[in-house]
Amino acid sequence: MKTLIACYSYSGNTMVAAQRIHENIDADLTRIDPVKDRWNVIKAVHAFLEKKWPIKECITDLADYDCLLICCPIWAGRTPPGVNQYLHELENVRGKKLAILVTMSSDGNQIATTQIKTALEVQGMEWVGQLKIKGSDQERGSWQPKLEEFAQYFME
Ligand SMILES: Cc1cc2nc3c(=O)[nH]c(=O)nc-3n(C[C@H](O)[C@H](O)[C@H](O)COP(=O)(O)O)c2cc1C
Repeated sequence: MKTLIACYSYSGNTMVAAQRIHENIDADLTRIDPVKDRWNVIKAVHAFLEKKWPIKECITDLADYDCLLICCPIWAGRTPPGVNQYLHELENVRGKKLAILVTMSSDGNQIATTQIKTALEVQGMEWVGQLKIKGSDQERGSWQPKLEEFAQYFME
């Protein structure tokens, strides 16, 4: 199974997890990178309002892949605006598998995984599973075994 890992990471936490999975499975890694940076308060407000930010060119066509793994941080309980734009630009998603990895600083609620799942399931993607790396997982390092278990999804 060939997987595309699409990763947005502002301060690096999510990219560490995405790269760890990339090392262990047959996958390409594409970086979601907004054209412009904004202040943190703008980031949170725009995420809350579910806005889209223009992103630099990256792999958005799933024609050559069986599975898409979206990796991103939680902002204001939601998906970052660059990720919203990425979801909008995706092509040839029908019949492909979908998985999600999110990182967050709290152990609190978030709707980002539901946002992504809902947006892509209506376009015909097939849900595989998700991994939420919470603040306490990051502090204890307990995310590493969870990541290894999660990577099994992509090893068919
Ligand atoms: C603008 C902004 C909003 C955030 N909102 C939340 C939030 O609602 N809940 C949460 O648990 N963490 C929140 N965080 C923390 C990040 O989700 C967390 O630190 C994440 O691991 C960062 O990933 P990254 O290093 O890949 O960017 C927020 C961080 C930023 C910069």
